[in-house]
Amino acid sequence: MAAYEYETHDYDVVVVGAGGAGLRATLGMAEQGLRTACVTKVFPTRSHTVAAQGGIAASLSNMGPDHWQWHMYDTVKGSDWLGDTDAMEYLAREAPKAVYELEHYGVPFSRTEEGKIYQRPFGGHTTEFGDGPPVQRTCAAADRTGHAILHTLYGQSLKNNAEFYIEYFAIDLLMSDDGQCTGVVCWKLDDGTMHVFNAKTVVLATGGYGRAYFSATSAHTCTGDGGGMVARAGLPMQDMEFVQFHPTGIYGSGCLITEGARGEGGYLTNSEGERFMERYAPNYKDLAPRDYVSRSMTMEIREGRGVGANGDHIHLNLSHLPPEALNLRLPGISESAKIFAGVDVTKEPIPVLPTVHYNMGGIPTNYWGEVLNPTKDDPHAIVPGLMAVGEAGCASVHGANRLGSNSLIDLVVFGRAAAIRAGKVVDPEAAVPATNTAQVDKAFERFDSLRNANGATPTAELRLDMQRTMQEDAAVFRTSKTLKEGVDKMDKIAARMSDLKVTDRSLVWNTDLMETLELTNLMPNALATIAGAEARQESRGAHAHEDFTKRDDDKWRVHTIARVTGKDVELTYRPIIEAPLTTEDEGGISLDRIAPRERTF
Ligand code: FUM
Repeated sequence: MAAYEYETHDYDVVVVGAGGAGLRATLGMAEQGLRTACVTKVFPTRSHTVAAQGGIAASLSNMGPDHWQWHMYDTVKGSDWLGDTDAMEYLAREAPKAVYELEHYGVPFSRTEEGKIYQRPFGGHTTEFGDGPPVQRTCAAADRTGHAILHTLYGQSLKNNAEFYIEYFAIDLLMSDDGQCTGVVCWKLDDGTMHVFNAKTVVLATGGYGRAYFSATSAHTCTGDGGGMVARAGLPMQDMEFVQFHPTGIYGSGCLITEGARGEGGYLTNSEGERFMERYAPNYKDLAPRDYVSRSMTMEIREGRGVGANGDHIHLNLSHLPPEALNLRLPGISESAKIFAGVDVTKEPIPVLPTVHYNMGGIPTNYWGEVLNPTKDDPHAIVPGLMAVGEAGCASVHGANRLGSNSLIDLVVFGRAAAIRAGKVVDPEAAVPATNTAQVDKAFERFDSLRNANGATPTAELRLDMQRTMQEDAAVFRTSKTLKEGVDKMDKIAARMSDLKVTDRSLVWNTDLMETLELTNLMPNALATIAGAEARQESRGAHAHEDFTKRDDDKWRVHTIARVTGKDVELTYRPIIEAPLTTEDEGGISLDRIAPRERTF
């Protein structure tokens, strides 16, 4: 038996992760007087939300007419009719409130001449239920919106006495025999001590798992830690086959160039200098949704019209925009293009390529952030004491494809919703659950076996094999053959987890061990992704299957539920939620028009 001493901490709520969703949840809990801890493996303002550039969607109507119903419709259509309608309505309806709250907390949004929050166009955001022109709905702080939000939320959380445990790595959840989550076991990275957090509610806000792929805009810290912990607790993940490729990652480095660049007037060209998006999406052109644009770019490259010596990427043109506009609205990406592509955006195009950016799938939740463990009898059964928000969760508002700038709004709307719910269900007077020592021992057992792993495969080698396989076989376009090969390869890669070699046995700043723990989290996320993709025989949103090119609503308008045990993935399905929250026309606007139809742009 591995013996580790540990310190015990008791809280009403423990939030794991300090990105936009984690901080918004932490702040909302603390504001209501709940004793709240936020446990995070990186310093809060270094969480990946800091890299979010273009903005946050909300129908404020600052730049022209807009309605939450139009935002909802665009989200429904963007999701390719796979999102849960109640959650999508909640998102669009609550978005303006959530953004004004951010403004009042102190987020330094860019401003219009009249002093209102500046909003820019983003892909897939339209007017008149998709029949009108693009709308300016994306609220921006230049091209550093995530940075502005994260710093503000961290400051506000401290002001409200939330307690932060920084550079603590969450190893595993504590689950009672009757399925309640009662806490989380953590390793403090800088001094090697162990910590058990007992809580009435644990909120997973651990972000996505972009690093399951070789080339991603995500930080190296995006390792799906919540999904890994949930899988080991016997709980499922949902819709993992839907992985978003952002059209404009810088060729080579994968560094993000915001969609706001196209929102401000930038456009894509092929080797013939053609603005090819006019052919693929005659109405919305470069402002079609990301899955559409990424596929169009890939088709141009495949058909021999890519740019560069190898014809393997595309140009993003900004040099026609006034330098003062670039300086005011896009200063961050002007700098990134210089550093990562050696390009002066006022003179030359930026070389770009679709790059993994976002995971639509995650831990299934309702729109209050409560984690679901669907059964045949109850597809909406709740796991007591456990919530998930942000990219770690799947509410599901993005369905098969997320619209740009709907991520930041998802973080704050559902971080806030989780806090509202906790205010109702967490009783500050009740006792905190006692330490579940059997579960603590189990977590330390796993930790210790990895710490002493003495096989023949270095963690970095196995991680690279996984990343290359996912990149090749669960790509923008998929076929039955590539997916089958991918499943077989991932099966063999996952089997090698028992042959890992960790060379550093220490407990203080042991990055070898931390990356190994992260790999144990990435792996179930990757397995669920490729297995779900192989099984889904249709094309929908980001899942473009070349052997099944049509969307099949009769058979596949269902959520994939994936349970991963070791290297085995069990797939079941649950129906999507079709009914909106609102049944009466609000403001004279009917929701009749959200019913499925062909998705064209
Ligand atoms: O392009 C961007 O600025 C990214 C935004 C998003 O993913 O929502």
